[in-house]
Amino acid sequence: MSNPVALITGGASGIGLALTKHLLDQGWKVVIADINEEAGKALEKELGSSSSFVRADVTIYSDQIAMFKHAFSWGENRLDFFAANAGVDDRQDMHMSAEDLDENGDPKPLNLTTVDLTAVIQGCWIYKHYARKNIKRGGKIVITSSVAGLYASPINPQYSTAKAACVHLARCIGPPFLKNENIIVNVICPAFIMTALCPPKIRELFPKDQITPMETCLNAYDKFLQHGTLTGQVAELSIEKVIFH
Ligand code: NAI
Repeated sequence: MSNPVALITGGASGIGLALTKHLLDQGWKVVIADINEEAGKALEKELGSSSSFVRADVTIYSDQIAMFKHAFSWGENRLDFFAANAGVDDRQDMHMSAEDLDENGDPKPLNLTTVDLTAVIQGCWIYKHYARKNIKRGGKIVITSSVAGLYASPINPQYSTAKAACVHLARCIGPPFLKNENIIVNVICPAFIMTALCPPKIRELFPKDQITPMETCLNAYDKFLQHGTLTGQVAELSIEKVIFH
């Protein structure tokens, strides 16, 4: 039996990169999908032949199709695990300032949910297709939500809402995906983890003991991948401290 194959969006940085390395250490083959081509190509060289980089903007549907096609063929017709992990948090608090207005003085559109929610739904939708063709039929999905998806976060309402919807999505698609496609779906909800997405401002605001170690997050993935968990059950393992009061 060939090695298991994972596709990780946002795999070129932060949590996605840590997960990529962690899975490679365990003998997985990993496809790193990311919009950051420079970092992805450098990683492909650094990590060797068990990894493959595909440049994809997950907000573009045709990019996602191409990314899955690449992963499935590079993985020799298997794609055991899809980590819908790419995300952004521009911390728009929806308090409008001059830079939020266009040349006509109208508010510019808000687009965070295209990355943090719509792209996740599309990814799960396309993965379903490949899970049917998978060697053993079926697979696993983990969506990266956030503690901000469990507790309303007034400092970044778009992000918090998109991440809450990701939790809801996992609960909604979990049972039918398991029943019909043999795909186990779960979601992880980390608190702050030291990555590029977690800005210095946050590091100053919150004491060190309120930052989640990356290891805790990786342990949550391990538990899910090794033992599986109930479909649609939220993996709250990575929340050590609830920091929104
Ligand atoms: P990061 O900024 O280090 O990594 C995010 C990756 O996603 C980057 O490589 C970026 O290039 C990629 N990306 C962004 N937009 C993309 C697009 N349109 N298409 C393809 N790739 C794209 O951030 P981090 O922290 O590793 O974030 C990973 C996930 O974890 C995100 O979904 C984030 O919301 C979530 N998360 C992070 C927390 C933290 O404190 N760092 C806490 C809770 C959740």
